Amino acid sequence: MGAEVATTVSKVRKALRVAGRAAAITGAVGVAGIGYAAVIERNWFRLRRYEIPLLPPGSPRLRVLHLSDAHLTPGRRMLMDWIRDLDRHEPDLVINTGDSLGHRDAVGPFIDALGPLLDRPGAFVYGSNDLFSPQLKNPARYLWRSSKSDYRKRTVPDLPWRELGAAMSASGWLDLNNRKGTLKAGDLDIALAGIHDSHIGLDRYDDIAGPADPAADLRLGVTHSPEPANLDRFTADGYQLLLAGHTHGGQICMPLYGTLVTNCGIDRRRAWGLSRNGAAWLHVSGGLGTSPYAPVRFCCRPEASLLDLTPTAPRG
Ligand SMILES: [Fe+2]
Repeated sequence: MGAEVATTVSKVRKALRVAGRAAAITGAVGVAGIGYAAVIERNWFRLRRYEIPLLPPGSPRLRVLHLSDAHLTPGRRMLMDWIRDLDRHEPDLVINTGDSLGHRDAVGPFIDALGPLLDRPGAFVYGSNDLFSPQLKNPARYLWRSSKSDYRKRTVPDLPWRELGAAMSASGWLDLNNRKGTLKAGDLDIALAGIHDSHIGLDRYDDIAGPADPAADLRLGVTHSPEPANLDRFTADGYQLLLAGHTHGGQICMPLYGTLVTNCGIDRRRAWGLSRNGAAWLHVSGGLGTSPYAPVRFCCRPEASLLDLTPTAPRG
């Protein structure tokens, strides 16, 4: 009987040792994973490149730099330096699809980061985070709940969005928040239309509704959040390339599966990158940053995109 008890005690001790080791390994892997996501991948910027045939036959190529979701806080020097360095790719046009700010003192640093890019033709829309400061919350909450609900009780913006817009406008960039406009870039006449952020209910597509200028060499639709109903209206109005951000590509993605959630109405297969929306092309930027209260990216590196627009082949 005594020997049996001793054997049982020995087995229990062994099981506890194994469980303890497993818990320690799991904890170490978790800490390493969070450290990787917060320190390495969050600063491991990537420039994606796409070639899109949509210009009239015989047109010169047009290089568009698409920036989005910087969520800049003043201390993010690596991000600021990386953005500034994008000018060496010599884009003909720069489009910023919003969520540039992550702090009330970030307007100056963001404008400094754009630096020489502001001397190029450009256009912008706002995202919710340009108006409302980030708030502390469970960083994983977006996996089961859209951040749209966070704004229901926040009606008065507390970030300097007007100063941000004024600084970009002062450099000649087009403000496309529920507005249309035209600009010349790379010898092409471009018709643009944009909407304010649908994620906070400030989109007013009716203000820009109507056929895009058929005489333009290129027709661009710009929005922060790729909400399907708005994308379909841009497409129906003849905009050929739609540019959006907001999704962060999912921000925390699953290896071999990809994006888990998009935080808006777009399907997860179009959460980032180039796809079609009927007759139009759609490019969704996975974005450059994160909320300062969710400072991790996993299997979803921060990014900007260079879109080389090329002429279509002549018919027949
Ligand atoms: Fe964002």
